[in-house]
Amino acid sequence: MSELRDATMNAITRIEREEADASTVTFLLDGREITARHTDTLIEIADRAGVQIPRLCYKAGMEAVGNCRSCMVEIKGERVLAASCCRTRSTAWKSHTTSERVLKSQQLVIELAAIRHARARVHAPQTRSMSGR
Ligand code: FES
Repeated sequence: MSELRDATMNAITRIEREEADASTVTFLLDGREITARHTDTLIEIADRAGVQIPRLCYKAGMEAVGNCRSCMVEIKGERVLAASCCRTRSTAWKSHTTSERVLKSQQLVIELAAIRHARARVHAPQTRSMSGR
């Protein structure tokens, strides 16, 4: 019984096992050679490397949904930009987070979100303060 309890207490979760089993890959991120696990997303890798990528719908520790498209990056050999919060390793990665194409895309998404937010505030119903004024 005690051995069973010890085995249970020392068990690792499926996620921990996947992380331990994940092999690493080396690739170029903005010209810098970076080594990361296969399971890491590009935005996680960039965060660790000190590379800033804008984000609206991504938060570390939560499941990435890839809705806002503000974290787009360019991956050499791919026709369209990729959401860095959802993209895990692919073969022969050579990524750019600051190319003109990437910055234009990120800026457009952030501007559209700001405009949408401003419009929502204008059209929001008036709220009364607790004092009744
Ligand atoms: S942060 Fe929203 S799609 Fe990546």
